[in-house]
Amino acid sequence: MTSQQDNDKLLAAEAAADLLHDGMIVGLGTGSTAARAIRAIARRQLKIQGVPTSLQTAELATSLGIPLADINRVPHIDITIDGADEFTTSLDLIKGGGGALLHEKIVAVRSGQVVIIADATKLVSRLGKFRVPVEVIPFAARYVQERLAGLGASSSVRPGTVTDEGNLIVDADFGLIAEPGILGARIKGITGVVEHGIFSGIASLVLMGDNGVVKRFPQVSGS
Ligand code: A5P
Repeated sequence: MTSQQDNDKLLAAEAAADLLHDGMIVGLGTGSTAARAIRAIARRQLKIQGVPTSLQTAELATSLGIPLADINRVPHIDITIDGADEFTTSLDLIKGGGGALLHEKIVAVRSGQVVIIADATKLVSRLGKFRVPVEVIPFAARYVQERLAGLGASSSVRPGTVTDEGNLIVDADFGLIAEPGILGARIKGITGVVEHGIFSGIASLVLMGDNGVVKRFPQVSGS
């Protein structure tokens, strides 16, 4: 990662942390950009409760003194701040590079607002250069790979990765994806698939650090 990318991730993370206020229940994403947001939230010393999307994030938030809540004990999540591996200006995403896509998606769909933070290298005109992570129960791994091949993807089981739910990640290469929502539904229909990393219709806002400036998607007309 270049120092420019590093700086842009931090800018996006700080802009997202600025959206929070006392009393909020906040979904805390996973990955290097989300970690910067969690540190920025801690610096603001807000009275929030965090709902973590991974054990790794729970550990980081706890170490920084951010109180955590059990997702099944909160009535709602006001806002989630998370990273992405790729995003388009239509706010379709690929997530799961860090293997946390299942909890990330569950937290996101319970959230009133989902804010994605990224540096400019994550913006693509079409999803698919980054392989689609698919969380599968171990017993079904080979079957799922065969069915993914039927959908046109070559795939491999990610070595050395077991998710927080004890599952495997299969990374699937579909090439460039024309219709992320439709492909996502097809992947989800395979027996043994728990979840996939295509997030379509879930994000509300992307904050992208780009050479020292934060850009917003969807863009406000006139900007
Ligand atoms: C974790 O499973 C992912 O969805 C991350 O949000 C994604 O990989 C982005 O990570 P970075 O912010 O480290 O690039």
